[in-house]
Amino acid sequence: RKKITIQHLHGMKRECSPIAMLTAYDFPTARACEAHGVDITLVGDSLAQVCLGYDDTTRLTLDEMIHHCRAVARGSKSPFLVADMPFGTYQAGPEDAVHNAVRLVREGGVEAVKIEGGMEVVDTVKRLTTVGIPVMSHIGLLPQRRAMLSGYRVQGRSAEAARDLLNSALALEDAGAFAIVLEAIPHEVGNHITQRLGHAATIGIGAGWETDGQVLVWDDVMGTWGGHQPKFVRKFGDVRLEVEKGVRAYVQRVRNRSFPTPLESYDMPIGEMERFYQ
Ligand code: KIV
Ligand code: NA
Repeated sequence: RKKITIQHLHGMKRECSPIAMLTAYDFPTARACEAHGVDITLVGDSLAQVCLGYDDTTRLTLDEMIHHCRAVARGSKSPFLVADMPFGTYQAGPEDAVHNAVRLVREGGVEAVKIEGGMEVVDTVKRLTTVGIPVMSHIGLLPQRRAMLSGYRVQGRSAEAARDLLNSALALEDAGAFAIVLEAIPHEVGNHITQRLGHAATIGIGAGWETDGQVLVWDDVMGTWGGHQPKFVRKFGDVRLEVEKGVRAYVQRVRNRSFPTPLESYDMPIGEMERFYQ
């Protein structure tokens, strides 16, 4: 497969060829994205919940993120590789953000970073792109602000809120963002922002069908866990069912001694057992 670059992604936007982005958190999931045609692999901070069992993304540390980025990077060659900057690693200002983004690139092995926020992070986006670290922005529903937003809820439903999102998107593109994730907003707003941006590609999650690309969380796509899911999630696989079948069958075969069989076991060479018993 050909290596995907920012230039390639911008070409896809121009040609209205949809961009497929998917999260990955470890070597095998990275390999699956690599092997099956994903354009952008995101080491999302959803890692906090789906892999590490935290109850929101604010708990994830930079060291934990880097540890997972290294595993993903080892399994990823062609897709463009992006990592979320964890909560607290860019809020203190542009210089702090540069310092931490450099760690994600140099130690984590990713090509670009993603940061949540609109106008308030424009200076940070500008600083990062100026020093040569590509930035993917993320506006609309911002999971790192769950407490401030009083939960996960649809954004940009009033004309004023939609206008704020548009202005943020234009300013972020101006600041150098190569792409912008639009999360949980009306599809009309997703469409309008997509039309108004010049080169920055929009990647939607719960932002309708008119964005330049789509992103979902690996575990939501594969159905690796139960629980409530927002309406924008579609399950494309049922890994949880397969896992249940596999674990139950294994435990049962161990308990009734039908695993392992002689074919799954090693034999001692002829004569060795007599010598062994001597
Ligand atoms: O953390 C994540 O997985 C994300 C995507 C869903 C956009 O930010
Ligand atoms: Na995220």
